Amino acid sequence: MELAEIDTLIADDMGAVNRCIQDRLSSDVVLINQIGHHIVNSGGKRLRPILHLLGARALGYQGRQHIELAALIEFIHTATLLHDDVVDASELRRGQDTANSLWGNEASVLVGDFLYSRAFQMMVTLNNMRIMEILADATNTIAEGEVQQLLNVHDPDTTEQRYYQVIHNKTAKLFESATQLAAVISLKDKQQEQAMAAYGIHLGTAFQLVDDCLDYSSTADEIGKNVGDDLAEGKPTLPLIYSMQVGSPEQVASIRQAIETGGRANIESILATIKSTGAIEYTAKAAQAEADKAISCLADIADSPFKEAMLSLARFSVNRTS
Ligand code: IPE
Ligand code: IPE
Ligand code: MG
Ligand code: MG
Ligand code: MG
Repeated sequence: MELAEIDTLIADDMGAVNRCIQDRLSSDVVLINQIGHHIVNSGGKRLRPILHLLGARALGYQGRQHIELAALIEFIHTATLLHDDVVDASELRRGQDTANSLWGNEASVLVGDFLYSRAFQMMVTLNNMRIMEILADATNTIAEGEVQQLLNVHDPDTTEQRYYQVIHNKTAKLFESATQLAAVISLKDKQQEQAMAAYGIHLGTAFQLVDDCLDYSSTADEIGKNVGDDLAEGKPTLPLIYSMQVGSPEQVASIRQAIETGGRANIESILATIKSTGAIEYTAKAAQAEADKAISCLADIADSPFKEAMLSLARFSVNRTS
């Protein structure tokens, strides 16, 4: 199924989600409105809300809670982006200057906190302890993932296992919540809830693996973010970890050095190494394997156009170029 077709399939729901987002974004504090609108209306893919809506519809959900949930999941995602761009010292997101480069780190962190806490206010209105448990655990895990990643920065001995732990926590967990909650509000049994959750974890893992490829293989025009940010930070993502497993002693030494010092000084030679070791293909293959697992998780979910869209999004998360 094409992306445009998926948009059409959930157009009514997504319209309601976008209205909810605009409505709940407002604050009496002008700076919050400015930064909030800057980031929320800058053209994010809305992938997590889309997955939640599709999951709910695939399971035959007929209520209205999926709208509020989709909106608040996007708020949590947006809060993590505001914080992430500060931590990563990133200057470009969604093709625009980041909030931190326009308004400074302090304002970005604080408005990120506003969005996080607004998401929790919205959650409380749903009055469901299970929903709160899942989202409280997810946000806590995201924070752990970001701190674990901080500990890996500038450490060339970071293992694949530690890398996977980070991406599971910082990225896959919120995808998991989005799809698991679709089963929770649809009052499905444990087995279907687990299938939906596992689909989200695998898709989210694939999604971050591809993000880490694009940071080396794409362009700022294409992804709306500056490429090479990960190297500049000295962040050992899978393309670098793999290159160190198979590269020549000289190549390994230069990657170790780049991770230890950060910066963009040796970016050309690192890119050549990544290319010659096949590290992008290796990482993309790992993403494909995760997407395949996501797809197989939906085997027992009844066929519908919504399920079809979820299968397509798993494929899209691997083939995407932005
Ligand atoms: C960016 O997520 C952060 C990662 C987990 C890689 P998205 O690529 O979903 O960001 P937007 O919302 O579409 O800009
Ligand atoms: C994803 O990691 C960050 C979050 C889950 C908040 P990145 O730091 O790679 O995300 P981008 O590339 O800046 O979007
Ligand atoms: Mg970042
Ligand atoms: Mg980051
Ligand atoms: Mg990235």
